[in-house]
Amino acid sequence: MKQKILKILKENKDNLISGTTLSKNLNITRSYVSKLISNLIVEGYDIKKIDRLGYIYKNDLKVLDKDYIYNNIKNKKEVIVLEKIDSTNNFAKKFAKETFLKEAVIVANTQTEGRGRLGRSFVSNEASGIYMSYMLKPNFSLDFAKKITCLAASAVSSAIDEEANVSSQIKWVNDIYINGKKVSGILTEGSTLLEESKLEYVVIGIGINTYDQVFTDEIKKIATTLENEAQMIVSRSKLIVNIINRIDNYLANIGNDVYMKEYINRSFVIGKKVTLQKYDKIFEVEVIDINQEGELVVKHLDGRFETISSGEITRMKINSEN
Ligand code: BTN
Repeated sequence: MKQKILKILKENKDNLISGTTLSKNLNITRSYVSKLISNLIVEGYDIKKIDRLGYIYKNDLKVLDKDYIYNNIKNKKEVIVLEKIDSTNNFAKKFAKETFLKEAVIVANTQTEGRGRLGRSFVSNEASGIYMSYMLKPNFSLDFAKKITCLAASAVSSAIDEEANVSSQIKWVNDIYINGKKVSGILTEGSTLLEESKLEYVVIGIGINTYDQVFTDEIKKIATTLENEAQMIVSRSKLIVNIINRIDNYLANIGNDVYMKEYINRSFVIGKKVTLQKYDKIFEVEVIDINQEGELVVKHLDGRFETISSGEITRMKINSEN
């Protein structure tokens, strides 16, 4: 029945259609019509409810369309689209252990326990963001696994720029920024087969604030949405496809380090003074460079240089005088 309503609404795109017309055409009550339309809105369909008059179908840019995603990714793999889940990374890790498949993409419309790095949470309201995990069982070495977040960040940042016509940057190591505010974060998790010292699986978790995300006042100061920065509604499904295709392309050419050049070019921190927390020490440094391993090359106030890996740092704050 939901599909039948959708068909009529789409045929009348941008025009008002009354609840009575829909209920008569489909032989269902007006309250059932209203309930089905509310469900469609939750799924991401842009349908305006006009009090006592009816409904106007605007677009389906916000809808997670599993068929569209599958049909448009170049390297075919399992695509799982869920309405609600605790965390797509949790789902992907469990799935990796149960399946013989070597690759899968899991996307959810909302997460109840979206997670970020270092135990932080990731705001994951309904139809307001992209919450996806790319699970793969790679052949590459454990050494390369350290760089997978850089590879994913390059893919996400480039895909965002293409779809939303913006210039995003990467805040080492895993955040994507637009105009100085965070729009996306990446959480890479993995499991190693210790006895073989090789990777069992890697899960690349990607969260992007696209639109309508409700932030607390505290988070509003540091986070933003694509809609706010680009003044447009991007198609979630199209952006997901763009990201997957870029990740696959980088993975197919991992020897050539193109992704790392992109990562360094897109850096939001090179040349800036930042405050770092390394274990229990807090200190100020200038970021000089990011090396081919994705590590930060910094200069201390006393002129000393140091190379720091992401695992050593629990906090990075960009100093305001930059
Ligand atoms: C961060 O900001 O530190 C990383 C955020 C990563 C969020 C994504 S949303 C999809 C996947 N599932 C999760 O629970 N987290 C990642």
